[in-house]
Amino acid sequence: MMKKIVLFWVTLLFTGYLFAQTPNNEEKKAFIDDLLSKMTIKEKVGQLRLVSVGGNLTLDKVLDQIEAGEIGGIFNTVVEPDLTYMQDRALKAPNKIPLFLGFDIIHGHRTVFPINLGIAATWDRDAIAKAAEVSADEATSDGLNITWAPMVDITRDPRWGRVSEGFGEDPYLTSEAGRIFVERMQKQVLSDKKSLVTTVKHFALYGAVEAGREYNTTDMSERKMFQEYLVPYKKAIDAGSRAVMVSLVSINGIPATGNHWLLTEVLRNQWHFDGVVISDHGAIRELINHGVASDAKDAVKVAIKAGIDISMNDEYFLKFLPELVNEGVLTEDQINDACRHVLELKYDMGLFNDPHRNLDPKLDIETMFADNRLHREEARDVARRSIVLLKNKDHLLPLAKNKKIAVIGPLADSKRDILGSWSGAGRANLAVTPLEGIKKAVKNPNLVSYAFGANLSDDPQLFKFLNLYEITTKYDERPADKMIAEAVKVAKKSDVVVAFIGEAEGMAHESSSRTDLSLQASQKRLIKALKATGKPLVLALMNGRPLTLPEEYQQADAMLETWFLGTEGGNAIADVLFGDYNPSGKLPMSFPMNVGQIPVYYSYLNTGRPHGTENMGKYTTSYFDSPNEPLFPFGFGLSYTDFTIDFSLSSNEMTPDGQIVVTANVENTGDKAGTETVQLYLQDVTASVSRPVKELVGFENINLKPHEKGEVKFVIKPEMLKFWNDKMQYVSEPGKFNVYVGSDSTTKDKQTFTLLDK
Ligand code: NOJ
Repeated sequence: MMKKIVLFWVTLLFTGYLFAQTPNNEEKKAFIDDLLSKMTIKEKVGQLRLVSVGGNLTLDKVLDQIEAGEIGGIFNTVVEPDLTYMQDRALKAPNKIPLFLGFDIIHGHRTVFPINLGIAATWDRDAIAKAAEVSADEATSDGLNITWAPMVDITRDPRWGRVSEGFGEDPYLTSEAGRIFVERMQKQVLSDKKSLVTTVKHFALYGAVEAGREYNTTDMSERKMFQEYLVPYKKAIDAGSRAVMVSLVSINGIPATGNHWLLTEVLRNQWHFDGVVISDHGAIRELINHGVASDAKDAVKVAIKAGIDISMNDEYFLKFLPELVNEGVLTEDQINDACRHVLELKYDMGLFNDPHRNLDPKLDIETMFADNRLHREEARDVARRSIVLLKNKDHLLPLAKNKKIAVIGPLADSKRDILGSWSGAGRANLAVTPLEGIKKAVKNPNLVSYAFGANLSDDPQLFKFLNLYEITTKYDERPADKMIAEAVKVAKKSDVVVAFIGEAEGMAHESSSRTDLSLQASQKRLIKALKATGKPLVLALMNGRPLTLPEEYQQADAMLETWFLGTEGGNAIADVLFGDYNPSGKLPMSFPMNVGQIPVYYSYLNTGRPHGTENMGKYTTSYFDSPNEPLFPFGFGLSYTDFTIDFSLSSNEMTPDGQIVVTANVENTGDKAGTETVQLYLQDVTASVSRPVKELVGFENINLKPHEKGEVKFVIKPEMLKFWNDKMQYVSEPGKFNVYVGSDSTTKDKQTFTLLDK
């Protein structure tokens, strides 16, 4: 009873607090109406321009344009004094409208967390929340007030380099991660000093580009869009994200940036989104290349009419929007609408009251990048939860701390790579490499020896590509066989070999699609030579996407997926290698056996001729030269202990407004404490449209001591049974449902219930 009373008062007080913080709508409207009435068309257009310093646009030019009221937001500056001067100049403009100060805060800010695919691999809502919260804390401490995250594009094609920035192949897992990012970064109250406005991106379907080729076309049925790919954007918007970034690709023939159906009919009219819609970098101009605009002026018209508010890296809005209004091609009301979205957001952020929020003009660069501003403990904890144990023959891992260890490979001591892509405000010199982490963790660092072993690749073209703008990837000029010989020598003197292989961070980034997902020949040769020494071989993968590794899986005695783990990566890897942390990560994306299987994902539709082994699989949906199954399935990840899971349903029938409780009994049958992620999948067996063989609808973590038993409960609610039916209505249909509970998506442990008509 007491508890209930306390809860009542806490809820009441919190609601009261929120109410007090929520700007009064009438006041807001009056303020903005008044402001709009004073603004010239040029100033209104200025609010629709996001600009960054660079190229011809020098800092001085940007400052002048800001003072003229011609810029609404700037991005890519993370130096506080510069940001302060920019905001100062905005307050000298005729209507003194403060700027958005934006930056890509994708997986950390000063402290770099694992890449988002790694964050998703934690399958741990608290860990995801920690990464998002710390990122927003650090970014707002730097005076930033808006970011271009989270990216919630569903990704099922690892040839696309940007899979590293998302949360994987599954709508539910991605939606959960996206929701948590929005809640923890943006917060409930935008005028909170720690609130960083989120921009969910890339709306929409960027991750489904044909052949995984960057910026390519997407073509998809509306059912698949609404059922799967659009879900995470919608969830992020429902969680309150006040900005949306539009994807660079065309969707069913119409570029997203000029797509009225997507940006207005779906986003504004169906989803009631009332925030700002931002184009991606240079996307307005690209409408000409897409072939839907004849020239730059036409492109501006197409974008505004479709529903774009803000032009990122704007080149043409200022030049053409006033002209288009003068000529009567666009109405001033159309500009007012877009400008109102911007001003409303700035008002809700409290920028008009406190434009210099968190800015300190005296902060010098050294202090800004100082180690003591980092959140190392949080980063290490999330990083070790991201690591996925893929193989552990004869319990090779964890290693004893008194063994002689050979640490080998082109990625073993690379400070830049471990940060991963999109880590612009991070500093490589502050990162801990695997070699450093391992040396710190062992009893005697002299027992750890190191060899580079091989260049990341033999291909000079790849190095040119990676080092185009700055030298990020080291090329060792020594002959390849000499480097291998050195590595073999080091391996032979040791008890165990830990090889760090995979990709350079620049290979898993924007504009880094691949057709071949195997390791580079140079690394394959190195592994072969290390294997030939007969020493136990641990392969630690560093990569930003699923790779095809059937051969390496055979060669390795143990295999760890470590992604790009960020600032504390090396320490996190050591925690797992030596068993100070028992690995608990699970794959957020299937790892194909070969490129020909792509797209390979767990939630496929059954066919009329399901895959089978009868008649050698002939006349069933199969390949004759490859299995259908991926090498590692979605949701997969081992532990240093073993778990068993069985489960029961509270009923085998459910009324349309009822619910079913799923109780999973989990037992740690091994000798080490560990964490298991219990996964709940559903299948609608018969419906008016074919439904996936399995869909993730829930997951929970449970920590168990050796031989301890525990329980996890899920509730199946009517909402979870809904789908887009044959008439494109979002409904559930009565009939049989299969429930699967297990430790990965291949679980066959099944129970059944019937959804009743009434
Ligand atoms: C282009 C990328 O597609 C987008 O994700 C990013 O936010 C912007 N550039 C700004 O850096």
